[in-house]
Amino acid sequence: MNERQRPVSILLVDDEPANLAALEVVLAPLGQRLVTAGSGREALRHLLREDFAVIVLDVRMPDMDGFETAELIRSRPASRITPIIFVTAFPEAEHDLERAYRIGAVDVLFKPFVPESLRSKVSVLVDLHQKQRSIAELLAKAQESNRAKSEFLNLAAHELRTPLAVIVGYLSMLADGTFGEVSPELRQAFEILTEKSEELNRIVDDLLTASRLESGVLPRRLVECDLREIARRAVRTARPQAELLSAELHLDVPEQPVMVRADPTYLARIVDNLVTNALAYSQGQPWVRITVRGGEEAVLTVEDHGIGIPREMREQVFERFVRLPSAELSPQPGTGLGLYISRELARRQGGDLQVVDSEPGRGSTLALRLPAAADPANGRQHRRPPWFAGGRG
Ligand SMILES: Nc1ncnc2c1ncn2[C@@H]1O[C@H](COP(=O)(O)OP(=O)(O)OP(=O)(O)O)[C@@H](O)[C@H]1O
Ligand SMILES: [Mg+2]
Repeated sequence: MNERQRPVSILLVDDEPANLAALEVVLAPLGQRLVTAGSGREALRHLLREDFAVIVLDVRMPDMDGFETAELIRSRPASRITPIIFVTAFPEAEHDLERAYRIGAVDVLFKPFVPESLRSKVSVLVDLHQKQRSIAELLAKAQESNRAKSEFLNLAAHELRTPLAVIVGYLSMLADGTFGEVSPELRQAFEILTEKSEELNRIVDDLLTASRLESGVLPRRLVECDLREIARRAVRTARPQAELLSAELHLDVPEQPVMVRADPTYLARIVDNLVTNALAYSQGQPWVRITVRGGEEAVLTVEDHGIGIPREMREQVFERFVRLPSAELSPQPGTGLGLYISRELARRQGGDLQVVDSEPGRGSTLALRLPAAADPANGRQHRRPPWFAGGRG
């Protein structure tokens, strides 16, 4: 059924049965569910059981009047923002108006009111409620499908790991000549197979890491390490790939150590991801520079002259499976998990990862920030930098 057409409930409150009947006649053409209440208390009882798109509330009622009823309606979280239209007699208007708007009425109608006016006002609020409801339902569906997707990927990654390890093991034995002599043609085939299984291994590993990050179980080993050393190692790791692409790979590190307290394997993974991206998302011969700076916070930046990231996508690229389409580049291998994993790992070590600068066609700079470790010179902890507030991770 079309979401917009599913009827919503409207609550009509008046102590005069004749007035209630009149309201029902006026609003019946909207085709929604009309619920009537002869007193404030009865109205509150209905509100406990049901969610209303709008409440039409008479001001003058014995026992509990419309304003007191409205205040009680507002005090409940479930109906704090339910729109209320007050209906009041003209003589008391001035005073009523002021009080009604203070309570948060969306409108005040004077008796005798024009039926079309009430109907069109209620109709707008009904429409709004239906839209909010469909958005909430869409969100719930998206969250559910997201959860199902994560569960599936987690399962798939676990199931793929063992057979993949067996394949890699046999391949290496075949290549070694364990099962007989290997001709040059076969050797080349084994090399390709080995390379592809390594690629597959990386994907499975990323899927597993992502699912562990989500469920919160990822052990870490925090030690003091020099961020310059991490950067140097990343350059060594990227060298073969860079040479294949005839890329320029620059390293700019200070003379003094830049000590951070972190898990070196996580840091290596983050920086490798950043450098791999910088090389992959560049046209022609890529240019990449890794810079390390110390101080109150330690910062490692990876800068490229690649295709760039549009401003409105600077945050989205850190979401799982988000990959940007590119007209300039041929499709690059990848799953869209690299930056998600990298940012999560950075945050779990008290740091953060951001796109600090990027312009389509000109290049990007991503920065990994980490709290500096205790100062080795005087053994004192550096003051925490401002972005570290809030204790992430
Ligand atoms: N340096 C960069 N320059 C331009 N675009 C980038 C850069 N880094 C990332 N992107 C864009 O962000 C997307 C997400 O990057 P991410 O590293 O998370 O995933 P991926 O590279 O697609 O796959 P993988 O999971 O294998 O890393 C990329 O697909 C690319 O569109
Ligand atoms: Mg990547």
